[in-house]
Amino acid sequence: MHSQLSSGTTHENRSVKTYAEVASELEALLAGEHDLIANAANTAALIFNALPEINWCGFYFLKAAELVVGPFQGQPACVRIAMGRGVCGTAAAQRRTIVVPDVHAFEGHIACDAKSRSEIVVPLFAGDTLIGVLDVDSPRPARFDDADRRGLETLAGIFVRSVTA
Ligand code: SME
Repeated sequence: MHSQLSSGTTHENRSVKTYAEVASELEALLAGEHDLIANAANTAALIFNALPEINWCGFYFLKAAELVVGPFQGQPACVRIAMGRGVCGTAAAQRRTIVVPDVHAFEGHIACDAKSRSEIVVPLFAGDTLIGVLDVDSPRPARFDDADRRGLETLAGIFVRSVTA
Protein backbone atom coordinates (compact mmCIF):
# COMPACT_ATOMS: atom_id res chain seq x y z
CA MET A 1 0.00 0.00 0.00
CA HIS A 2 1.86 3.04 -1.07
CA SER A 3 -0.29 6.11 -0.89
CA GLN A 4 -3.39 4.72 0.80
CA LEU A 5 -4.20 5.29 4.41
CA SER A 6 -4.57 1.61 5.25
CA SER A 7 -4.10 -1.78 3.74
CA GLY A 8 -7.47 -1.92 2.06
CA THR A 9 -9.73 -1.60 5.06
CA THR A 10 -12.55 0.91 5.13
CA HIS A 11 -13.76 3.06 7.97
CA GLU A 12 -17.51 3.23 8.58
CA ASN A 13 -18.25 2.32 4.97
CA ARG A 14 -16.30 5.22 3.52
CA SER A 15 -13.77 4.37 0.85
CA VAL A 16 -10.15 4.66 1.85
CA LYS A 17 -8.63 7.99 0.93
CA THR A 18 -5.12 8.47 -0.29
CA TYR A 19 -2.76 10.74 1.62
CA ALA A 20 -2.80 13.00 -1.47
CA GLU A 21 -6.55 13.39 -1.09
CA VAL A 22 -6.29 14.12 2.62
CA ALA A 23 -3.50 16.62 1.91
CA SER A 24 -5.78 18.48 -0.53
CA GLU A 25 -8.57 18.50 2.04
CA LEU A 26 -6.20 19.83 4.70
CA GLU A 27 -4.92 22.61 2.41
CA ALA A 28 -8.52 23.66 1.76
CA LEU A 29 -9.49 23.41 5.44
CA LEU A 30 -6.61 25.61 6.62
CA ALA A 31 -6.61 28.07 3.71
CA GLY A 32 -6.52 31.69 4.87
CA GLU A 33 -6.34 30.82 8.59
CA HIS A 34 -3.13 31.12 10.62
CA ASP A 35 -4.31 30.60 14.20
CA LEU A 36 -2.26 27.86 15.88
CA ILE A 37 -5.03 26.37 18.03
CA ALA A 38 -7.70 26.55 15.34
CA ASN A 39 -5.51 24.91 12.72
CA ALA A 40 -4.13 22.28 15.10
CA ALA A 41 -7.69 21.38 16.14
CA ASN A 42 -8.91 21.04 12.57
CA THR A 43 -5.79 19.13 11.50
CA ALA A 44 -6.21 16.62 14.33
CA ALA A 45 -9.92 16.19 13.56
CA LEU A 46 -9.34 15.70 9.83
CA ILE A 47 -6.61 13.09 10.33
CA PHE A 48 -8.51 11.31 13.10
CA ASN A 49 -11.54 10.90 10.86
CA ALA A 50 -9.61 10.10 7.67
CA LEU A 51 -7.32 7.36 8.94
CA PRO A 52 -8.79 3.96 9.72
CA GLU A 53 -7.80 2.18 12.94
CA ILE A 54 -6.77 5.26 14.89
CA ASN A 55 -7.60 5.86 18.55
CA TRP A 56 -5.68 9.11 19.19
CA CYS A 57 -4.39 11.92 17.03
CA GLY A 58 -3.08 15.25 18.19
CA PHE A 59 -0.37 17.73 18.97
CA TYR A 60 2.19 18.40 21.63
CA PHE A 61 3.82 21.84 21.47
CA LEU A 62 7.25 22.72 22.83
CA LYS A 63 6.94 25.19 25.71
CA ALA A 64 9.84 26.00 28.03
CA ALA A 65 11.73 22.87 26.96
CA GLU A 66 8.75 20.57 27.62
CA LEU A 67 6.11 19.14 25.30
CA VAL A 68 2.63 20.27 26.35
CA VAL A 69 -0.49 18.66 24.94
CA GLY A 70 -2.41 20.69 22.36
CA PRO A 71 -5.57 20.04 20.35
CA PHE A 72 -6.32 16.35 19.87
CA GLN A 73 -8.98 13.73 19.22
CA GLY A 74 -9.24 10.66 21.42
CA GLN A 75 -9.07 9.86 25.11
CA PRO A 76 -7.67 12.47 27.54
CA ALA A 77 -3.87 12.45 27.42
CA CYS A 78 -0.91 13.18 29.66
CA VAL A 79 -0.27 16.91 29.63
CA ARG A 80 3.52 17.34 29.85
CA ILE A 81 6.27 15.20 28.32
CA ALA A 82 9.95 15.97 28.90
CA MET A 83 12.31 16.06 25.94
CA GLY A 84 13.72 12.57 25.44
CA ARG A 85 10.83 10.87 27.30
CA GLY A 86 8.36 8.54 25.63
CA VAL A 87 7.86 8.30 21.90
CA CYS A 88 6.94 11.99 21.64
CA GLY A 89 9.97 13.20 23.58
CA THR A 90 12.23 10.86 21.64
CA ALA A 91 10.99 12.12 18.26
CA ALA A 92 11.42 15.70 19.50
CA ALA A 93 14.91 15.11 20.91
CA GLN A 94 16.10 13.17 17.85
CA ARG A 95 14.32 15.57 15.48
CA ARG A 96 13.04 12.71 13.34
CA THR A 97 9.85 10.74 12.83
CA ILE A 98 9.61 7.68 15.07
CA VAL A 99 7.45 4.72 14.02
CA VAL A 100 6.75 2.27 16.86
CA PRO A 101 5.21 -1.04 15.68
CA ASP A 102 4.69 -2.29 19.25
CA VAL A 103 4.42 0.31 21.98
CA HIS A 104 4.91 -2.38 24.66
CA ALA A 105 8.38 -3.02 23.25
CA PHE A 106 9.37 0.67 23.27
CA GLU A 107 11.25 1.39 26.47
CA GLY A 108 9.82 4.46 28.14
CA HIS A 109 6.59 4.52 26.14
CA ILE A 110 4.01 6.68 27.94
CA ALA A 111 0.64 4.93 27.92
CA CYS A 112 -2.14 7.49 27.72
CA ASP A 113 -4.77 5.17 26.24
CA ALA A 114 -4.35 1.50 27.14
CA LYS A 115 -5.84 0.60 23.74
CA SER A 116 -2.83 2.03 21.87
CA ARG A 117 -0.63 -0.71 20.39
CA SER A 118 1.36 1.16 17.75
CA GLU A 119 2.29 4.80 17.28
CA ILE A 120 3.90 7.33 14.97
CA VAL A 121 5.29 10.70 16.04
CA VAL A 122 6.32 13.38 13.54
CA PRO A 123 8.38 16.37 14.74
CA LEU A 124 7.24 19.82 13.60
CA PHE A 125 9.76 22.44 12.49
CA ALA A 126 9.37 26.12 11.77
CA GLY A 127 12.52 26.51 9.73
CA ASP A 128 15.12 24.80 11.92
CA THR A 129 13.21 25.41 15.13
CA LEU A 130 11.33 22.50 16.70
CA ILE A 131 7.84 23.69 17.66
CA GLY A 132 6.24 20.39 18.67
CA VAL A 133 5.14 16.99 17.44
CA LEU A 134 2.17 15.36 15.75
CA ASP A 135 1.30 12.07 17.48
CA VAL A 136 -0.99 9.35 16.06
CA ASP A 137 -1.86 6.13 17.92
CA SER A 138 -3.53 2.94 16.71
CA PRO A 139 -5.10 0.00 18.55
CA ARG A 140 -3.58 -2.31 15.89
CA PRO A 141 0.06 -3.41 16.21
CA ALA A 142 2.28 -2.31 13.31
CA ARG A 143 -0.44 -0.02 11.93
CA PHE A 144 2.03 2.53 10.49
CA ASP A 145 4.45 1.91 7.63
CA ASP A 146 6.76 4.07 5.57
CA ALA A 147 3.88 5.33 3.42
CA ASP A 148 2.20 6.56 6.60
CA ARG A 149 5.44 8.25 7.63
CA ARG A 150 5.67 10.09 4.34
CA GLY A 151 1.98 10.92 4.30
CA LEU A 152 1.89 12.23 7.86
CA GLU A 153 5.10 14.22 7.34
CA THR A 154 3.38 15.89 4.38
CA LEU A 155 0.27 16.67 6.45
CA ALA A 156 2.44 17.99 9.30
CA GLY A 157 4.23 20.24 6.80
CA ILE A 158 0.92 21.67 5.55
CA PHE A 159 -0.09 22.42 9.15
CA VAL A 160 3.24 24.09 10.01
CA ARG A 161 3.17 26.26 6.88
CA SER A 162 -0.38 27.36 7.70
CA VAL A 163 0.65 28.68 11.12
CA THR A 164 4.03 30.11 10.19
CA ALA A 165 3.09 31.83 6.90
N1 SME B 1 2.52 7.55 23.86
C1 SME B 1 3.09 8.87 23.88
C2 SME B 1 2.41 9.77 24.85
C3 SME B 1 1.29 10.55 24.28
S1 SME B 1 -0.11 9.66 24.09
O1 SME B 1 0.12 8.52 23.19
C4 SME B 1 -1.34 10.59 23.52
C5 SME B 1 4.57 8.79 24.19
O2 SME B 1 5.08 7.71 24.57
O3 SME B 1 5.24 9.79 24.07
